Amino acid sequence: MNLMSTVGPDPRMHSQAEGPVAAMRANTVAGAVKRKPLLLRPATKVLLFALCLLPFAWLFYGAWANTLGPNPAEALIRATGDWTLRFLCITLAISPLRTWTNLPALARFRRMLGLFTFFYVLMHFLSYGWLDQGFDIDAIAKDIIKRPFILVGTAGLLLMTPLAATSFNRAIKALGAARWQMLHRAVYAIALLGLLHFFWMRAAKNNFAEVAVYAVVIAVLLGWRVKRALAKR
Ligand code: HEM
Repeated sequence: MNLMSTVGPDPRMHSQAEGPVAAMRANTVAGAVKRKPLLLRPATKVLLFALCLLPFAWLFYGAWANTLGPNPAEALIRATGDWTLRFLCITLAISPLRTWTNLPALARFRRMLGLFTFFYVLMHFLSYGWLDQGFDIDAIAKDIIKRPFILVGTAGLLLMTPLAATSFNRAIKALGAARWQMLHRAVYAIALLGLLHFFWMRAAKNNFAEVAVYAVVIAVLLGWRVKRALAKR
């Protein structure tokens, strides 16, 4: 229903007869009616972009101000790994949230959130390659082969790369919607690889509390999709 119909006839019709105050009030009401819903405004995207950059800005400041603790390299590798997994979960949460809240406009943010997942995994890989391995390609390759949890993380990064590269409208057009959708289903495998990577890393420390939380979140997000696919059949 049009909001105009709930507030009576067009208020601008009275504005000239009732003077400048009435005209101002009428314009305000008309402006409110015309204004886009919050989720559709360009400013909302800008705000979300700034919010997504906050963890990076915080870590960057921490590295610069030396407030990341006694082992800044480890702190950076771990924090960027955590943010990769968080952004992955947030991206996967958009579709179920759209349905549960009946807010289709939420889909506008999925591409940006997916690209931020890729940004944080790149920061994670760069922190590891630079601060842990000194950009020694030989040492990195040997470490990837030697430590299975790093191999699994690398598989996640490699799978994520074509998704990031084809996240633009031109790529969707070039691939065709069906093929593009098929390719982007790899995000489910990436979520499982990310979880396995985290589990494997924490298994060495016998510390599974956080892993269990992510496992439940990912199980709900993927379970929702399995249920929906079965219902469609
Ligand atoms: C889908 C991709 C990936 C995800 C979701 C991911 C996520 C994570 C998470 C959540 C952690 C644990 C952070 C914590 O303890 O709080 C972690 C640690 C780590 N990851 Fe990744 N990661 C990914 C890819 C990679 C890649 C490509 C590499 C390197 C080639 C890598 C190397 C590491 C290392 C070295 C650690 C720290 C281990 C330690 O401190 O003992 N990860 N990652």
